[in-house]
Amino acid sequence: MDWGLKNRLALIIKPANNRAVMLAVDHGYFLGPTEQLENPKQTIRPLLQYCDSLMVTRGVLRTSVDANYPVPVVLRVSGGTSIIGEDLSNEEITVSVQDAIRVNASALAMSIFVGGKYEKQTIVNLGNLVNEAEQYGIPVLAVTAVGKDMVRDARYFSLACRIAAEQGAHIVKTYYCNDFEKVVNSCPVPVIIAGGKKIPEREALELTYNAIKAGAVGVDMGRNIWQSNSPVAMIKAVRAIVHGNADVNQAYDLFQKLEKESPKQSKPKSKPQEQNKPQNKQKKTKSKKTTKEKVI
Ligand code: R5P
Repeated sequence: MDWGLKNRLALIIKPANNRAVMLAVDHGYFLGPTEQLENPKQTIRPLLQYCDSLMVTRGVLRTSVDANYPVPVVLRVSGGTSIIGEDLSNEEITVSVQDAIRVNASALAMSIFVGGKYEKQTIVNLGNLVNEAEQYGIPVLAVTAVGKDMVRDARYFSLACRIAAEQGAHIVKTYYCNDFEKVVNSCPVPVIIAGGKKIPEREALELTYNAIKAGAVGVDMGRNIWQSNSPVAMIKAVRAIVHGNADVNQAYDLFQKLEKESPKQSKPKSKPQEQNKPQNKQKKTKSKKTTKEKVI
């Protein structure tokens, strides 16, 4: 592996323990101002010191993240669709490698939609991005987004993760499922999990613990951190599992202790099923062929 590639990967997956805590805040690239991420600067600022790397779009990076703070950036470089569009799998690469270098990205991230309508296009996008990024020693993280008719099981995720690795992805991000060891063991590159939709904190910590136990190197977590009433307490609890080898009880105890110490955020929460839906005006819009609510 080239020195630069190895060096950048080491910023994301800590070589000391082969673990990673990534903070995902890229959701706006297709969801717009989703709940608790309406003002990215406010959401990101208190969490920045607790993540190993930040997964973000170039727009939010440039406008909402302090360039003086030395956080490694995993730059979302795919897009082109929205939650109200025809099909979320119809993504292209929207950011040049030159611009990624300009913002000092440590890795590039894009989605593949295995089983989706535009499956081929997204897998070819991945291959092409790896071709280009490797010229500059930049690793590529492939996000395995789930097609609407796909069952979220180890068979499907193994398929998607393996395809991403075969195309040359250096890290694969997927979702936790039963028999997750099968997904990890059949993927020759490090696997990292997304948190998915907001669930109670204890359950999100269980998911984190189980994924690590099954061989995941860490999390790339978004909503289960910043949609928590205590985002800092939550990211610290997640860190305790990933980097501190805490079990679920220890991590949840930590969360509860820290939550008590810091006052609750006052923002109203919408019902779980309403989370991340477009604003009211858009509610009557036709449903999508692929709903990224299900996808992510
Ligand atoms: C999905 O396409 C985005 O890349 C998110 O970054 C990803 O789903 C992780 O965020 P969450 O933990 O909210 O699922």
